[in-house]
Amino acid sequence: MKKAIKLDITNAYSFVSKEKIDAYAAVAQQSLAKLYNATGEGSDFLGWLNLPDETTPTFLNEINVTAAQLRRECDVVVVIGIGGSYLGAKAVIDAMNDTFDWLQTNRQNPVIVYAGENIGEDYLYELCRMLKNRSFGIICISKSGTTTEPAIAFRLLKTQLEQQVGVEASRSRIVCITDRQKGALRSLANQEEYKTFVIEDNVGGRFSVLTPVGLLPIAVAGYDIAQLIEGAKAMKQRCNRDVPFAENIAMQYAAVRNELYSGGKKIEMLVNFNPKLHYVAEWWKQLYGESEGKGGKGIYPASADFTTDLHSMGQYIQEGERHLIETVISVEEQHCEVRVPENEANLDGLNFLAGRRVDEVNKMAELGTMLAHLDGGVPNIKITLPCIDEYNLGQLIYFFELACGISGYILGVNPFNQPGVEAYKCNMFALLDKPGYEEASREIKARLK
Ligand code: PA5
Repeated sequence: MKKAIKLDITNAYSFVSKEKIDAYAAVAQQSLAKLYNATGEGSDFLGWLNLPDETTPTFLNEINVTAAQLRRECDVVVVIGIGGSYLGAKAVIDAMNDTFDWLQTNRQNPVIVYAGENIGEDYLYELCRMLKNRSFGIICISKSGTTTEPAIAFRLLKTQLEQQVGVEASRSRIVCITDRQKGALRSLANQEEYKTFVIEDNVGGRFSVLTPVGLLPIAVAGYDIAQLIEGAKAMKQRCNRDVPFAENIAMQYAAVRNELYSGGKKIEMLVNFNPKLHYVAEWWKQLYGESEGKGGKGIYPASADFTTDLHSMGQYIQEGERHLIETVISVEEQHCEVRVPENEANLDGLNFLAGRRVDEVNKMAELGTMLAHLDGGVPNIKITLPCIDEYNLGQLIYFFELACGISGYILGVNPFNQPGVEAYKCNMFALLDKPGYEEASREIKARLK
């Protein structure tokens, strides 16, 4: 029997009463019903809701077959994408990966690297240099198929791959994940006859990790995508609309963060005590930031890696402005065991720890931190993961997605649009004299005089 993720909100009760949180039951239930009935704002983007049930073994097999082909042919696979088109895959892959595996010479899995998530010239130069004379493949992911950052990276890497192996051979090493019909990437993929997977119109980028957007890179990295879907399925069942508020952890999480927010806690930090979870927080930040930050509202999603950041951000969290919520992802069981060695000289005074697990030290750091921050005026929410594996990550992903939809509706925003992300693009295109932006170009240049 697999263990389930746990949510503990009792450390919020000294800031907001249990009664106040329980009073959200009705609105949380209505918000979940809006998702299930597609009656809320943004209801055209609810394709993610049923993905765990709708993803068939045949479809997973198709992804695994494509992944196997890339795994056979490539030592390095570059995942090109930005925002929702890479963060979910990177979150899962980094959580699962042996941290130093990329240094091994007899690796079982290709090294996964990323591009198109920035436009750093040096980064791209160094990436191209690293890929020279290596056997590499490309997974290019863009829902719209027109995003500038991945398009630049794809131009560069496609050209390089064709030069290294020839145009014909490059075709079996390039997979595109994009819209069924629209966009430049779709046209290019059709023209070049690349293998493609579709991101359906009704799944937004930040909710797309359980589509081929996340599943293909995760499978290429060597992880069990069926288990990821199984975990998501279990969470869907556990938090479905028939599960009452008192047992429904997605509703509870949505409720507690909204109540804390209305009491002035404007920033939620997702913190971990395990460096492998860094990108889970990066993915979560996009999910909640893009879903809720609109109309002058929304908790600002932040993150920290502990104990690392306790030595940089710890002072602020303990004693700075009291607008913080801390949501801790705690990992119950580690996969490996390391014990603190005995040392005869004991110059560091650590012999009291000799023979004890490093994880015991970490767990006491976690408990001590949560209590200290609580005393300092920072409410904690605790999410416990039984261990880091595909099944539990699948549970976690679906839990956060569902809670995000509920939370957005409680807040009174459309959680599925992102009108604000266009502003910088318009300015950038105007500044770069993109055809069609002539007027915007004149206006922005006049502003800069
Ligand atoms: O969640 C979103 O919609 C965005 O983060 C997109 O995923 C991101 O901008 C990339 O867009 P696209 O996949 O169209 O290239």
